[in-house]
Amino acid sequence: MSTTADPRLLGRAVRRVVYTKEAIAQRVQELGDEITAAYSDGELLVLGLLKGSFIFLSDLVRDIRRPLQVDFLVASSYGDGTESSGNVRLLYDPETELEGKHILLVEDIVDTGRTLSRLMDLLRARNPRSLEICALLHKHIATELRYPTRFLGFDAPNEFLVGYGLDHAENFRHLPYIASLQ
Ligand code: PRP
Repeated sequence: MSTTADPRLLGRAVRRVVYTKEAIAQRVQELGDEITAAYSDGELLVLGLLKGSFIFLSDLVRDIRRPLQVDFLVASSYGDGTESSGNVRLLYDPETELEGKHILLVEDIVDTGRTLSRLMDLLRARNPRSLEICALLHKHIATELRYPTRFLGFDAPNEFLVGYGLDHAENFRHLPYIASLQ
């Protein structure tokens, strides 16, 4: 599809489509299979980090073929710009009991890793049975991330990406593909 003709873009030019809708759908299904195989028993709580993970999470859980529950975390590390500000604020904490459960923290993108490191420290202190990260994208520049990403969709280029949940100043989250901004 020609992105320049896409009315969702507010007339903004995108440099290129990095992951098509079809490529994302295939990879998400594969991740669902990996996660299904990885958890043979116990209670699984899938924790989506809002807002960025909302589309990925909703597609992913439908490809996990075992019982699970869903809750959310809200943190914020970016302002309106395209650079990480360095601050991580927790705005919502899950209501669900975490102790004794398998916790799968779902993130759209690992950039500096600051958000995930902070959240993993917090979640680990609540004594889950296991605690793993599932990220759709990873830039592999995460010098601050002290935890491995157990389930990963794609190795992402170090460009500013929007779509499929990722925003620029709260726009473009609804693009069905992932694109790089000019
Ligand atoms: C973005 C993105 C990740 C995080 C990654 O979230 O969705 O959660 O930053 O950056 P990091 O690895 O440098 O910490 P943001 O704070 O923009 O909130 P959003 O999910 O609501 O877009």
